[in-house]
Amino acid sequence: MWTFTTCTAYNAHSFINDLNEFTFSCANHLIFVYGQPGEFACRVTDFVDDDRVRVVINKRDVVIFQRKDKYYAMDAHCFHQGGALYAGDIEDIDGRPCVKCPSHRYRICIENGERFMELHETEPPTWQSRGIRQRTHTVFLKDDKLFVRLSSFDKPFDSDKYNDGTGTEK
Ligand code: FES
Repeated sequence: MWTFTTCTAYNAHSFINDLNEFTFSCANHLIFVYGQPGEFACRVTDFVDDDRVRVVINKRDVVIFQRKDKYYAMDAHCFHQGGALYAGDIEDIDGRPCVKCPSHRYRICIENGERFMELHETEPPTWQSRGIRQRTHTVFLKDDKLFVRLSSFDKPFDSDKYNDGTGTEK
């Protein structure tokens, strides 16, 4: 059985054009998928020792995070200056799971690639969105296998220039 594990409005629109064999729903969207909806990435058992797996999908450098039995995929290098997001800590910001870039500590939501910045003008400090900057992808779970479907490249993202699939540190 296919399980749709992550969903953003952006990714949902790319799916809706497919003829379908399977139907899934999340909180906001009804999703139709025909056959295998992405490239094989890894197995659930690969997360036993860590909460993330770094893979190359169609020459794209991608990290998959596991968080509370959900899986999220995004470009592995930070949109800012190519920092190693795949090695960043995960924390909740206003209820949203975010990765903290090890290079300059930007917080990026692993659900949709949105950057959050801490504002110190208020007490206590608050978090403000600075827009969606990091490209995210869609993860499917079938049995114990995870598949990743890259998001449409029709729309450019700031993280594109750092994730060409070479797997090299930047
Ligand atoms: S490279 Fe990630 S915050 Fe600067």
